[in-house]
Amino acid sequence: MEAWSRLESGKGKTIGLVPTMGFFHEGHLSLMRMAKGLADRVVVSLFVNPTQFGPGEDLATYPTSFAQDQESAAANGAAILFAPTAEAMYPPGSRTTVVVSGLTDTLCGASRPGHFTGVTTVVSKLFHLVRPDLAVFGQKDFQQLAVIRRMCLDLNMGIEIIGHPIVREADGLAMSSRNSYLTGSQRESALCLSRALKLARQLAAGGERSASRLADACRGLITSYPEATVDYISFVHQATLKDVSTVDRNTVLALAVKIGDKVRLIDNGYVRRPVSSYLESSDEPC
Ligand code: PAJ
Repeated sequence: MEAWSRLESGKGKTIGLVPTMGFFHEGHLSLMRMAKGLADRVVVSLFVNPTQFGPGEDLATYPTSFAQDQESAAANGAAILFAPTAEAMYPPGSRTTVVVSGLTDTLCGASRPGHFTGVTTVVSKLFHLVRPDLAVFGQKDFQQLAVIRRMCLDLNMGIEIIGHPIVREADGLAMSSRNSYLTGSQRESALCLSRALKLARQLAAGGERSASRLADACRGLITSYPEATVDYISFVHQATLKDVSTVDRNTVLALAVKIGDKVRLIDNGYVRRPVSSYLESSDEPC
């Protein structure tokens, strides 16, 4: 991987990286096409990173479809599908991690201790191996994007981090590899996330500015769906991820909801139309 990247960079080609854990859906493929529009060569990494899964999470059952992924990566502009083994990525004796503090204590970081250290460590390693000029991440994982932007700034990585809007199913559900775990009735319940976002936007458009009242309304809607339990409903500043009490044009509503016992889904979006969008563009759930 390193040799190829050095060769391409030496030829004056720019490299765009799309890090993934595979089992591609249209969200992943859109990121690849975006990278292809921005860089001469696209590298897609496929690595189900063990260090970002907590005990009792779905590492062992994470869905895979390698042959299909190879085909779709190539069809969507990837020059290389880089799929290292866990032994190659974490040889015995590894002792170094990359930790972004503060931004990782809240939201998914609070529910999944250690998760973001796994993410920032593996993404740093991928950046060193691929040496891209830019990397594309989805806004679906809004906290991940903010954490990686911060890491790049703080460690002078010199890689342009591009955010891609959330890609949704026609009915509003944010695409996710984990949607494949849902049963038929759970798939219906999973709509509570995008509908809560829509409700918050409607109430904010009608003049409601209180984050706690908006959260109550979202909680009421989400818990009215069978099997849906709230992990968090947070109104946060788009860049600092700090909780806000009054929503403004920098406010993002971030949601994590468990559907049934096993499936934890996330979604997010601006509550009001942003003035200057840190996330590059806002999407509107149906
Ligand atoms: P994974 O969940 O496979 O996601 C890979 C990339 O696709 C991430 O940047 C994610 O935000 C983006 N993505 C997933 N679903 C999306 C959707 N519906 N719309 C837009 N983008 C979407 O995120 C990871 O893998 C890992 O944490 C990784 C960064 C690869 C580090 O291991």
